[in-house]
Amino acid sequence: MIQISIDGTPHDVAAGDRLIDAINREGVVLSQVCYVPILGPIQTCDTCIVEVDGKLVRACSTVTSAGMQVSTTAGRARAARTEAFDRILRNHDLYCTVCDNNNGNCTVHNTTKLLAVEHQRYPFQSKPYAIDSSNPFYRYDPNQCILCGRCVQACQDLQVNETLSIRWEDPHPRVLWDGGAAIGESSCVSCGHCVTVCPCNALMEKTMIGHAGFLTGFSAPVLHNMIDVVKGLEAETGYSTILGVSEAEAAMRTTRVRRTKTVCTYCGVGCSFDVWTKDRHILKVEPAEGPANGVSTCVKGKFAWDFVNSKDRLTKPLIREGERFRETEWDEALDLIARRFGEIKAAHGPDALAFIASSKCTNEEAFLMQKLARAVMGTNNVDNCSRYCQSPATMGLFRTVGYGGDSGSISDIEQADLVLIVGSNTAESHPVLATRVKRAHKLHGQKLIVSDLRENEMAHRADLHLRATPSTDIVWLCAVARYILEKGLADSDFLSRWVNGLAEYRQSLESFTLEFASKTCNLPVETLERVAHMIAEAKSVCILWAMGVTQHSNGSDTSTAISNLLLVTGNYMRPGTGAYPLRGHNNVQGASDHGAMPNFLSGYQSVDDPEVRARFRSGWGVDLPATKGLDNHEMVDAVHAGTLRSIYLCGEEMSIVDSNANYVGEAFRKLEFFVIQDIFFSTTCQFADVVLPASPSLEKEGTFTSTERRVQRLYQVFEPLPGSRPDWVIIQDVANRLGAGWNYRHPSEVMDEVAALTPMFGGVNYQRLEGYKSLQWPVAADGADQPLLYTKSFAFPDGKARLFPVEWREPQECRDSEFDLHLNNGRLLEHFHEGNLTYRSPGIHEKTPDTFVEVSPELARSRGIESGSLVQLTSRHGRVRVRALVTERVQDGELYMPMNSTTSPVNLLTGSHTDPATHTPAYKETAVRMEVLARAGESPLPRINHRFGHPTPQNGVEVERKWRQPGYHFPGDLVQIENKREA
Ligand code: SF4
Ligand code: SF4
Ligand code: SF4
Ligand code: FES
Repeated sequence: MIQISIDGTPHDVAAGDRLIDAINREGVVLSQVCYVPILGPIQTCDTCIVEVDGKLVRACSTVTSAGMQVSTTAGRARAARTEAFDRILRNHDLYCTVCDNNNGNCTVHNTTKLLAVEHQRYPFQSKPYAIDSSNPFYRYDPNQCILCGRCVQACQDLQVNETLSIRWEDPHPRVLWDGGAAIGESSCVSCGHCVTVCPCNALMEKTMIGHAGFLTGFSAPVLHNMIDVVKGLEAETGYSTILGVSEAEAAMRTTRVRRTKTVCTYCGVGCSFDVWTKDRHILKVEPAEGPANGVSTCVKGKFAWDFVNSKDRLTKPLIREGERFRETEWDEALDLIARRFGEIKAAHGPDALAFIASSKCTNEEAFLMQKLARAVMGTNNVDNCSRYCQSPATMGLFRTVGYGGDSGSISDIEQADLVLIVGSNTAESHPVLATRVKRAHKLHGQKLIVSDLRENEMAHRADLHLRATPSTDIVWLCAVARYILEKGLADSDFLSRWVNGLAEYRQSLESFTLEFASKTCNLPVETLERVAHMIAEAKSVCILWAMGVTQHSNGSDTSTAISNLLLVTGNYMRPGTGAYPLRGHNNVQGASDHGAMPNFLSGYQSVDDPEVRARFRSGWGVDLPATKGLDNHEMVDAVHAGTLRSIYLCGEEMSIVDSNANYVGEAFRKLEFFVIQDIFFSTTCQFADVVLPASPSLEKEGTFTSTERRVQRLYQVFEPLPGSRPDWVIIQDVANRLGAGWNYRHPSEVMDEVAALTPMFGGVNYQRLEGYKSLQWPVAADGADQPLLYTKSFAFPDGKARLFPVEWREPQECRDSEFDLHLNNGRLLEHFHEGNLTYRSPGIHEKTPDTFVEVSPELARSRGIESGSLVQLTSRHGRVRVRALVTERVQDGELYMPMNSTTSPVNLLTGSHTDPATHTPAYKETAVRMEVLARAGESPLPRINHRFGHPTPQNGVEVERKWRQPGYHFPGDLVQIENKREA
């Protein structure tokens, strides 16, 4: 800490801090139009000028040093700030009262007031450009744009989509998309960063326009007349009167506009934000304080909420009658469920029933679902969809380090010296987390290695892209570990102090020579050596992986190999290191954490541990079953075998997200009684006997746990749509019909019960999660959490990690002469999974209306295929028809199909073979043949999709180019010149 003086008062601040941060922290009020802490100093607005040791400087780009004398009140500094802001007002028509951005947080409005501007020195000058409304979600009004460059900085250096720029040399600069394209035809991915950081109304969510204000919903001519009236007043009254009126109007808005904190319902990054609503209309999503995301979102979290008010929402329970469903009341549906569950249990025992919790639902709901299964029905047949993706990663971590979760936080990934991504399309599957890697790589010298079959965005950006033969990541990972050990590059101190099993592990690597790996993986030996040296020489390494690893028949072993490699190189226990299996659904981590697993109660407490069962018996008053139940995969087999007769499925599109969809569908047809709880009539509902209408996340309270083990609260934004009920209410209703006698009045009571029964969550409660507060498990009883795991020891009794030997096995399904192509599959940025939620956003539908199969140019040439050709893919398990998209993202005989379809789901092609340790289907081991049905056709991706855009990478807003323009003078210099002139 050092001492500086601000306006004559001494302050202790951190050395090297940005001066503007120190000033803000000490509560000194200073204008600062372009500054956003996470974006760093942009230096375009000049409104933060202060006097430091007698010189006028920008506070945002000045760092603190001991003894600094800072004056924010010096007349020269004030004059410079006013001059700077006057220039800004030349670019912005102040008509606050009739502006949708007049909500108390408009930086231009607030700065006008702060600097007590009454009249503009430089009159407003419109720019010769029209409003651009070509993006479905937001619009840009050049005439209101103050050229602060926040949006450019955010797009270039935070989101790192590199779409935006300002050509400062233009006579009338404006923000440009792809250097001058229409927004809707540019590379913009609609993440919304630019809109969120815009300090005024130049960039605005379309859902705000005409809705936010009392006087903003008029037609354009009326609105323009009103603007003229407002502007007319200025000459006479000055701005203070106009601002006074607009502030009164802004205050009125608070009576009908609600701002409610929630957590994103899509992926596992865990972005949180305020949702602004007026009645049931969503005005906008406003991220700011989220511990995982700050101001960041992707298109789904920012814009894809139309599904909540969709007319397709279920609002009545449905009961099957023959081939049809009839609507009914809740009482009849619940009675039927209780009666049939009771009958099946009485006739065939509790294990004839199974329960599947949803990883879209809350922790509390997952906990209640498994409590219903175990304590009410008496079966451990309970699981969640982590079986389809995450279980192998968890297994790899259980084997080696002890906890089944990311070993650090997103901030650790951000500060790593080297990031290795294996089998993850991070920029599309975990978009906001990817921004932190892209940013560190672009700005801070982070090294990036990506192993993926496709040249996805991260692979394209990487220093090294490995395209190993499908299913062989385990081989090169083991070979690199062997090489590191052999060449003395391992962290021997770490190994001897913290790791068991080195000798056996070393022996297990015997066959993994670089030559063997090179041959098996089709990667040059030199490349593997380079990987080994990059990892060994990096100061800190994080490894990220996802379904490209876990959805193989060696998914658990490859995950284990990743963790082994981290142990060998000492990349645990320090900031910027560790293992990061990227969790897919918003609450897939939490569903498992809270006991929706056949072998674990909450907090991974084993069902066969008598002590654990005794604790739960004392809490719940019933004996619990002691043997592991069926997982999702085994449930399907058990239905076919006739031993499982009933399933209660919560919020899961299982008939098309489980592999081998035909086989799953046949099983569902055989069920005696099938209950589904969902917000829409999903594809799976066609097999149901009873369908219960549930509520989405915006209509309930609870908590989600993100990929970084972060537990966060969501607050209720809307009342449940009449007729639907929150899942926790429904599960309780079912339990009580079965005689459980539960009486939860709020999800917080469920969480209190979780905490009481689960040492891992001992200190979790709703008070500690108030607002944007969060906790990263494990959480001690006193509330202490662990953003970085293993800082003192590993989670094994002796505190040491374990190297776990693994073997290489051929994939279970390979190409042959009949099925000659390998089919890969995965997520797409703009749709979540099959798209049940995201297709209901017209903007997303317009940009990405359908699924497709990616075909390499060389394969396309040899088969006479072009983008738009209709092909039939046939595997050993089924067939789909789909349009081709020819792209260099894939090569040779590799195909890639995103999951975004309910009519041509990729899982009609995948098989039932699994990772033996976890029964996670080997979705990525699928061989197909391809027949061309029609050579010509419309491209499945319209030209307006961002993938056809042309980004314009540069470093931030490049303010130096602005400063070089002949008309620009630093306001501080101007003020000094004027002062001299006056003197
Ligand atoms: S990608 Fe599009 S929405 Fe995201 S910051 Fe860039 S221009 Fe804005
Ligand atoms: S559009 Fe960009 S440059 Fe213009 S005011 Fe908004 S953030 Fe600033
Ligand atoms: S989908 Fe994921 S990255 Fe996108 S806003 Fe939601 S949590 Fe964040
Ligand atoms: S806030 Fe410092 S130049 Fe804009």
